Amino acid sequence: MRDETVAIHGGYAGEATGAGAVPIYQTVSHELESAEVAGRIFDLEQPGFHYNRLANPTNDVLERRMAALEHGTGALSYASGMAAVYQAVRNLATAGSNVVTVPNLYGATYTLFAHGLAEEGIEARFSTDDRPEAVARLIDDDTRLVYCESIGNPAGNLVDLAALAEVAHEAGVPLVVDNTMATPLLLKPIDHGADVVVHSLTKFVGGHGTLLGGVVVDAGRFPWGDHPGRFPMLNEPEPAFHGVVYARDFPERAYLVRCRTVGMRNGGPTLAPFNAFLALQGLETLAVRLERQMANARAVAEYLRDDPRVAWVSYAGFPDHPSHDLVARYLGGRCPSVLTFGVAGGYEAGLAFFDAVQLFKRMLNLGDTRSLVVHPASTTHRQLGPADLEAVGIRPDMIRLSLGLEHVDDLLDDLDQALGTATGGPPA
Ligand SMILES: Cc1ncc(COP(=O)(O)O)c(C=O)c1O
Repeated sequence: MRDETVAIHGGYAGEATGAGAVPIYQTVSHELESAEVAGRIFDLEQPGFHYNRLANPTNDVLERRMAALEHGTGALSYASGMAAVYQAVRNLATAGSNVVTVPNLYGATYTLFAHGLAEEGIEARFSTDDRPEAVARLIDDDTRLVYCESIGNPAGNLVDLAALAEVAHEAGVPLVVDNTMATPLLLKPIDHGADVVVHSLTKFVGGHGTLLGGVVVDAGRFPWGDHPGRFPMLNEPEPAFHGVVYARDFPERAYLVRCRTVGMRNGGPTLAPFNAFLALQGLETLAVRLERQMANARAVAEYLRDDPRVAWVSYAGFPDHPSHDLVARYLGGRCPSVLTFGVAGGYEAGLAFFDAVQLFKRMLNLGDTRSLVVHPASTTHRQLGPADLEAVGIRPDMIRLSLGLEHVDDLLDDLDQALGTATGGPPA
């Protein structure tokens, strides 16, 4: 089935009452059929629900649907995108090891990597840029994974996933890709060599600014068993589960089973079933929302490019954008509905514009039905100094827009009046 269909029907074969919408299983536990069945479930010999920190039927539909859309063998949902990012990394990275990452990252991910992981004895190595050779030279025997965002937030750059996957695999490490900005409808990293895909469901998938959620998808094909020294956690008996060896016993989803039995069980970053329901609702309309948002983004980008009160516009749909070729190759020419620009007059003019918008919401989210605006240097990336800002691709005057579903003329009217207020200039 095509993506638009999977986004509506995937993972749900109906249930006893014939409910059309996926029911919200608002329960903590499930009755265990017998001691024998319970034993098999607890030994991981048989799938089943027992306690909802680990698995829930509503979440299960969402996980199956996301796995299908991403061409993975399985998925696990989390309470937020950051929970998913953190758990995806910690499932492999332990004290004394390192992770290698491209520099253009979402602010909280950057902070986690640059500061948080160090507290746990894990080194994050940032490449100077996302060229595969820059990444390759940082990988050594202690590297557990290579990390990137398929589309950097907020820089909007695309990485060459196939090239990064190649250098990671040559060195015997998996490629972990945050695919939040692209969504599986625009890009499937697993088709280009990624081994693990993470998402914030909070953004485009949820799509209405009503839930926090995340998901990790396992491609199910990394040869963990070929690298027992590098990945002991997947190749040595698991003491908490009667000596299960993930790579041997779950060859198609070793990574994901450990995410559930260790990270989810011990840390408990469980997605609430109501939020799983909201994410499923969002998925059902994702395809049509993306079309409208992308059309609005193009119209806004063209408007800003032609306005003398705007210093620069970065929109991957323009031929002069550095990622333009990669947009053609990886997104089939479709451009995400997030773009950045600078107001003529620099940092102060950017702040004045931010204060002047009336229809655009000053909100930290992406992919909402509402059009949103942020000034990253003073908000999401405020903790970063000038050097760090430059490293993650953020200019001090950068304004990020996420285009929603409103009528485009109302959006252009608001941009016009806000630019006028910020620059004191005449309307375009
Ligand atoms: C690319 C990316 N990854 C991860 C996250 C974190 O998601 P959440 O806010 O759901 O924790 C975000 C949030 O903006 C993001 O943009």
